[in-house]
Order: sequence, then structure tokens, then C-alpha cells
Amino acid sequence: MEHDLDCLTIAELEKLATQRMDRQTRDYYNEGADSGTTVRENESAYQKYRLRPRVLRNVSKVDSSVNVFGTRCSVPFGVAPAAMQKLAHEEGELATAHACQEKGVVMGLSSFSTTALEDVRAASGNTPNVLQLYLFEDREQSRKLIERAKKVGYSAVVLTVDTPLLGRRNLEIRNQFRLPGHLRAANFDLDNEGRGSRSSRSECSDTAFSKDHSAAAKSTAANYREGRRVLPTGPVTFHTHGPNPTLEWDECIPWLKAQASPMQVWVKGIMTAEDAALAVGHHVDGIIVSNHGGRQLDGTLATLDALPEIVAAVNHRIPVHIDGGIRHGTDIFKALALGADFCWIGRPMLWGLAYKGQAGVELCLRLLTDEFQLCMGLAGVARVADIGPQFLYRVKASEFLSRL
Ligand code: FNR
Ligand code: LAC
Repeated sequence: MEHDLDCLTIAELEKLATQRMDRQTRDYYNEGADSGTTVRENESAYQKYRLRPRVLRNVSKVDSSVNVFGTRCSVPFGVAPAAMQKLAHEEGELATAHACQEKGVVMGLSSFSTTALEDVRAASGNTPNVLQLYLFEDREQSRKLIERAKKVGYSAVVLTVDTPLLGRRNLEIRNQFRLPGHLRAANFDLDNEGRGSRSSRSECSDTAFSKDHSAAAKSTAANYREGRRVLPTGPVTFHTHGPNPTLEWDECIPWLKAQASPMQVWVKGIMTAEDAALAVGHHVDGIIVSNHGGRQLDGTLATLDALPEIVAAVNHRIPVHIDGGIRHGTDIFKALALGADFCWIGRPMLWGLAYKGQAGVELCLRLLTDEFQLCMGLAGVARVADIGPQFLYRVKASEFLSRL
């Protein structure tokens, strides 16, 4: 395979994509919550570790494949669910699905995709898909979505649990983010039909908000009247319906497991040993250590720093995945060495999509795959199962974190 001489690294992919996206899309994709501390630390945490290679170990056959969601996949990483991919490229989620299918990589689909979940499943062939869920306050809407995913063969539903409220993304607010009128939250077409106008097909409707106030620009306080919660109304959009502050372990996980069976149920957004233990206790099939790519609570630990206590708490009872800040194949190696079973890639995939559609996502997946396999070979590991903490040094810095 020829190199793309303009783009040999994910860092170059970010630059190329950033030049191609309009301001609203670029800010929406790249921004973190508040001051962006967590989005930066997710990346920089990987620099706290150095590799400790072994030699003379016959790495003539490096096998980077792993079992995930009941399938043998070529690499220990998948594409994280990210909303509204047609903002990046007209083919949106279908381009991502085709690229993942081509490369044998698991694709996570956001509930708030701009392509219907059935079409993404059809484009994915034998490569597994998982559907990311927000559990809505109107459970019936979620139930219908889960039924549809089951019917077309999604392997798992992944409940995002770090969005009781919407994180504060200042550029999204300043840009008054709205989905352009020709794009739709495609999984909710039926729910949105009849709730209005042509504008029910865009992120916010002119009838629901005054002209200069998009849903993204509303403050959290607008969801409460005299201290009581006001249920979301109008078209189903991420900004209005995604966050749900009413969810609790004991109610929502058993409900979800009953609805989703035989699909697996995962939770995404675990950042502590305590919640990892609760997830195991509630019999979920796996967890994803995630802070939503630094888009929700700014100031949390980097996911890589949160990982060790979670791996210890889970103690191999269920798989532990991780996302956030992964920008190089060596980052994937480091996460696995610290005990993750699998990684998910968010923004780099979106940058690939913005750069060249399907070919750009394939490029992103190829760069990370090449880097990861090269890292395995140069570190003296032929099988993913053999990657462990013995391959890492920790760089001690004066500000190194410790529990209080
Ligand atoms: C996301 N992410 C996300 N997560 C989720 O559960 N549902 C969603 O709809 C979205 N949408 C979304 C949009 C955009 C533009 C981004 C950047 C991210 C979070 C995503 O799944 C993942 O947790 C992070 O992207 C991982 O961090 P990196 O790889 O982007 O640093
Ligand atoms: C986001 C949502 C859609 O992070 O999860 O923008």
C-alpha cells in the first residue's frame, strides 16, 4: 500500500482535516468542555509512559487480532460512536462503515447519527456494529431504537452514562450550533415526524427557540422551572433529549438488559473503581473507561490515568475498554499494557472522514494499525495477549497524581 505523502501521522491528519471543516463543524468536533483541560490531558497522559522493549524474540509474525463482540477482529481498536458525521463529509456514517468493513474494524454508531442505524448495519457486512444509546426520559423512544438495533443484528448496545447533563462547550454555545437543515437525526425520523415543520429535521426548530437561540445555546437552567425538571419537548435532538439526569443504576440497567437481550449491554463513561464495581454487580457485559473525549466534565482524570484502578477493581470479570486521546499506535500498546482489553478512537476517525471520506477513514485506521503492529514487533511481542505492564516505564513527574 502506497503512503499518502501529505499525511503520514494522525497529527498531520488533524491539520489537514481542520483546514477542510467549516467553523461550526471544526469547533464541534475538536472542542472539549470548559477550558479543555481534560481533552488535552487525555492525550498527554500517554507521554507519562515509555516503552521497555525486549529483543531476540522472533517477531516475524506479529498478530494484532483480538476477539471482541464474538468476532475475531484484525486490531484491538474500534471506531468510537460520534454523532452527526455528515457534518464532516456528505457520505457521513456510511463512509465510516465502509472503511471499517474494509479493514475489519468494529464501528460504534451514535444514536445521533445522520444515517439510519439499519443503513449502517447493511454497509458493515460481517464486521460487528454496536449502537451507542442515550436512555431518554421517554423510555418508549429508547425501546423502539433498541428493537430496531436487535432486528438488524447489532452486537451490543452501549449506554453512555456520563451525560446526566450536557457538558459546557463554549464554542458550541457561541456558534449557536445547529444541524444544517438538509441533515437529520436519522434514527428519530418517525418520532420527529409530525412534531412540526421542515425545521423538525434540523437540530433545533425555529418554532421551538427564538431565531438566535439554538438548543446548544440554551443554559442548563432552562431545563428546570421553579426547581422542577421540565421534560424535553419538540424534535428529538442531542442537545434537547440526550442528557438525562434521572437515570440510576438499579432502575436503568435491569430495564436495559431486559430490552436488549440477546444483544450485549455495555456502559461507556466509567471513570472510577467504585462505578466499575457497580457495573460488574449489575451484570453488564463490559465497560468503557471514558470521559467522553473531555467533552463532559472538564477536570476529570485522563482516561489512561483512571484505567489502573478500574482494571484492578474489575479483576478480569468483564472486559475493560478505553477511549480518549489515542493518537498513535504506541498509545494503543500502552493502554493494553496497563490492562485495557480494547481501545476506541474518536476524533482521528472524524478527521479522516473530513479529509477524504471513506478513503480518509481507511487512512486513519491504516496509520494506527501500522504503528501498532510496528510497536508490537519492535517491543518484541508477537501476540496481543502477551502485552503487559512489563513493557512500560512510568515517567515520574513532581505533579504525579495520588489518591487523597
Ligand atoms: C463524541 N462522543 C460521543 N459519545 C457518545 O457516547 N455518543 C455520541 O453521540 C458521541 N458523539 C461525539 C461527537 C464528537 C464530535 C466527538 C469528538 C465525540 C465521544 C466518543 O465516543 C469518544 O468517547 C471520544 O471521542 C474519545 O476521545 P477522542 O478519541 O476523541 O480523544
Ligand atoms: C457529543 C455528543 C453527541 O459529545 O455525545 O457531542
